[in-house]
Amino acid sequence: MIQEIKHNIFTVGANDPERKLFDALLPLKHGTTYNSYFIKGSEKTVLIDTVDPSKTEILLANLKQLNVEKIDYIIANHAEQDHSGSLPFVLERYPNAKILCSDKCVPMLVNYLQIPEEKFQIVVDGETLSLGDKTLQFIYTPWVHWPETMVTFAKEDKTLFSCDFFGTHFGLDDLLSSGEKETYDGAKSYFAEIMMPFCVMIREHMKKLESYPIEMIAPSHGPIHSKPETILANYRDWASETVKNEALIMYVSMHGSTKAMAEHLSKTLETKGVKTYVYDISTMELGEVASHLIDSATVIIGTPCLLGGIHPSAAHLIFLMETLKPKTKFISILGSFGWSGGIMETITPMLKNFQVELIQPVITKGLPKQKDFEEIEKLADAISRKHTELFSSPAK
Ligand code: FEO
Repeated sequence: MIQEIKHNIFTVGANDPERKLFDALLPLKHGTTYNSYFIKGSEKTVLIDTVDPSKTEILLANLKQLNVEKIDYIIANHAEQDHSGSLPFVLERYPNAKILCSDKCVPMLVNYLQIPEEKFQIVVDGETLSLGDKTLQFIYTPWVHWPETMVTFAKEDKTLFSCDFFGTHFGLDDLLSSGEKETYDGAKSYFAEIMMPFCVMIREHMKKLESYPIEMIAPSHGPIHSKPETILANYRDWASETVKNEALIMYVSMHGSTKAMAEHLSKTLETKGVKTYVYDISTMELGEVASHLIDSATVIIGTPCLLGGIHPSAAHLIFLMETLKPKTKFISILGSFGWSGGIMETITPMLKNFQVELIQPVITKGLPKQKDFEEIEKLADAISRKHTELFSSPAK
């Protein structure tokens, strides 16, 4: 997948369309790529990030195909192994290369990959490096999504090498192919699963990047953004403090009670103008649901009682939400039990770390009856009222 994306700037990374999971957690519908870039300056040569160690041979073969005899610098924008894991093998082939990275990145790479400290050269925030006819500038962007992360700006080519920032888990050979809906969806779920916990930092970084005349963003996962205004606008929206007039209902149902409650709530909310998405936790696709977590003002979790507690699938979801830190403002619970209570007793302590307002839950015994459906309608009323208040106040 070698492509010349700007004069003497080449993609040399690897496509991994068959990869099914990232971090042993995030499902990859379309696989991913590990983008690495080779820059041939008139005096110096640079490799920007490497690839997952499983794809080292592809990276080395691409460099060979380009007849790269010498690499002066390897820039490590990020220490996570899907970008750094091939470093020891690249150093074996190009032993004179110096690794340029942030101060926080050095001990990480020394520790993870046992690379000797003398191979590193720390670059500070804003520092520039001349390659002769090209100049690179290093911009610290901590917490997108690790503490050591930085991005690299090629000044003359107006290209930002952003590593994970602005990435997409989407396997493709042509990195310059224009973004279709699938890649938009992929970028959004990637943001939700990887970037969302760091919205505050992202807003700061977006402001910092405004002073750079960026004409292309070349991330280390998925397609290159040759019209960067689109992904920049999306990031401004996704990382903003605002949510939308939307509710996300996720339920697990053993005998149909919680499902009937979820469906009734969804139908009622829709009649009140609240856009509602309903998912069965047992079969839902995490990336799709995570994307809704960016926008939903309210989240409702439906669970049956199982042996005096909540269903383990609901518990897993709550744990995951705590990790992803969505911008959700309100939460409520739908639950049903057969012979024992315990849903709220179990779930209340689990919600204590959420900065959200709990709207009165509805818990039924067995299949919901007329009076239970009326309680659900009251819940829909309460959610709709909260949304009206939220969206009529200056800060949403
Ligand atoms: Fe793509 Fe944080 O590694």
